[in-house]
Amino acid sequence: MSETSFTPRVFSGIQPTGNLHLGNYLGALKRFVDWQAMDAETIYCMVDLHAITVWQNPTDLQKSTRELCAGFIAAGLDPEKSILINQSQVPEHAQLAWVFNCVARMGWMQRMTQFKDKAGKNAQNASLGLFAYPALMAADILVYHATHVPVGEDQKQHLELARDIATKFNHDYGVDFFPITEPVIEGAGTRVMSLRDGTKKMSKSDVSDASRINLTDDADTIAKKIRKAKTDPDALPSEVEGLSDRAEAKNLVNIYAGLNNQSVEDVLVDVGGKQFSEFKPMLVELAVSKMSPITTEMARLMEHQDEIDKILARGAERARAITAPILRQTYDIIGMVPPAPF
Ligand code: TYM
Repeated sequence: MSETSFTPRVFSGIQPTGNLHLGNYLGALKRFVDWQAMDAETIYCMVDLHAITVWQNPTDLQKSTRELCAGFIAAGLDPEKSILINQSQVPEHAQLAWVFNCVARMGWMQRMTQFKDKAGKNAQNASLGLFAYPALMAADILVYHATHVPVGEDQKQHLELARDIATKFNHDYGVDFFPITEPVIEGAGTRVMSLRDGTKKMSKSDVSDASRINLTDDADTIAKKIRKAKTDPDALPSEVEGLSDRAEAKNLVNIYAGLNNQSVEDVLVDVGGKQFSEFKPMLVELAVSKMSPITTEMARLMEHQDEIDKILARGAERARAITAPILRQTYDIIGMVPPAPF
């Protein structure tokens, strides 16, 4: 983890679209919990406004948002220690995003690879929100003056854009107001790949459910998916270099390292020379022991949706104590007349 000489304010978010998977867990959620354990000020968000950049069924969106909150808590986030929020309940995110839409340049947005991937061949038919997505993401972070943002590798370009927006805003208005945020992309789990194809990212949108492990999968399903995971015929190497052109082997070792809080080097010391027939059962046991308690706790929490809603309402109140003054200061800087007292 990066060394800092001040108390960091950590912000990150996850979209409430469909199931959380092992990539979200290792690349983000588990690391959110690590930051919480370091007594950093931590704010974690269910980004429902980002979710609607592509069409969402309203009933499913509500369910997924609550389920994501349950997943946050089941994985170890404590709503007393971390501020847990639903993006649409903290209106300053969207308000600052508008300001950033006016700071960011069209050319910057056009370079975003995730927009190109998500919009596909028919970019003219994509929503304007999908195009402006990274400006809202920058607002999420900067409306808290957050300093550190733990994410998986796929968010790197968006975080660079958040830095560009902060730099341009500060420059255009001659201020030193928004911090230049530090992306935190560290550890073995920041790029978990598909179990069916080690060159493709594990993702919610993959048509094959066998390509990912969902946080809602039971022990049998996890075991089946790992047993079926694509591999090659060779034994595991004892050195990291031996994984360089073996995408699937590398992925499974990375997953093992991420789940077991180990470096890939240390894992290979233990498993180097083993065949997959021996390694896969070890991975099954580890994955089930780490994931099953989360799955069970998530299901239990989902039976108390009123509690989840209260946690989100309380989170929004705590968040707004931070975001409202920062938005007001932003408006002052750019010349918006403040509302006069009656
Ligand atoms: P989202 O919802 O796609 O993913 C949530 C987090 O999970 C990470 N992740 C992965 N990590 C490792 N391997 C994978 N296969 C994998 N798939 C997903 C993502 O990198 C991410 O950290 N735009 C963001 C949400 C967001 C956000 C923010 C994040 C909105 N505002 C502000 C940080 C700060 C997204 O769509 O993540």
